Amino acid sequence: MAAQDDERRKIERDLHDGAQQQLVALSVQLKLAEQLVGKDAEKERELLARLGSQASAALEDLRSLARGIYPPLLADKGLAAALESQARKAAVPTTIEAGGVGRYPQDVESTIYFCTLEALNNVAKYAEASRAIVRLWQRDGHVEFAVDDDGRGFDADAASYGTGLQGMADRLDAIGGELLVESHPGTGSTVSGRVPVGGTG
Ligand SMILES: Nc1ncnc2c1ncn2[C@@H]1O[C@H](COP(=O)(O)OP(=O)(O)OP(=O)(O)O)[C@@H](O)[C@H]1O
Ligand SMILES: [Mg+2]
Repeated sequence: MAAQDDERRKIERDLHDGAQQQLVALSVQLKLAEQLVGKDAEKERELLARLGSQASAALEDLRSLARGIYPPLLADKGLAAALESQARKAAVPTTIEAGGVGRYPQDVESTIYFCTLEALNNVAKYAEASRAIVRLWQRDGHVEFAVDDDGRGFDADAASYGTGLQGMADRLDAIGGELLVESHPGTGSTVSGRVPVGGTG
C-alpha cells in the first residue's frame, strides 16, 4: 500500500506542477486576450497563437502522465490478461472469469480495471474472505463486472462509502456507467458495475 500511496502522491505532484499550472496560466492569458479583442488585432493574433501552443503542451503533459498511469499489460492485452496478472499477486485466492469480453476504449478498460482492483483491495483489507471471484461479461450493449467475496459483509449503504467506493461510483458515473454494492453482514459482498459500450453484443 505504501508504494501505491507514493505513486498517488507523485501523480498528484505531476498534475499540480504540470498541467494544472499550465491551465492556470492559460486562463489568465485568455482573460488578457479577451481585453485585446477589437483593440489590437496583431497582438491578439500573437497571443492566441501562443495560447494554442501552450494548450498543446498541457495536453501532451497529460497524455504522457496518462501513459505512465495506464498499465502496459492492460494497454497491450486487455482486461482479462491484466486482471489475471493482478489476481496472481492477490492476498486472497482470486479467480478471474472474463472469457466473454473483448477490447474496449481506454477509459472503459481503465475504469473497470481500477474499480475491480479497488474492490479486490477492499476484500483483502476487510472481508476476511476465503476467496474472491471477478467476473466480466458483455450484455445489452454494456460491459459488466462483479467482484464477489465470501467474507463477513458490511453495511453497503451509499452513506457508508469511503473514498474507495465513492471513487468507483464517480469514475463509473463519468463514463455513463453505474456501481452496485450488495452485502449483508455475514453473507459476503458483491461489488458490481456496468458501462455502456454500444452495440448489442
Ligand atoms: N468486500 C468487503 N468486505 C467487507 N467490508 C467491506 C468490503 N468492501 C468495503 N468494505 C467496507 O466499506 C468501507 C468503505 O470502503 P471504501 O473502499 O469506500 O473505503 P476504505 O477502503 O475504507 O478507504 P480507501 O478505499 O480510501 O482506502 C470499508 O472501510 C469497509 O468497512
Ligand atoms: Mg477501499
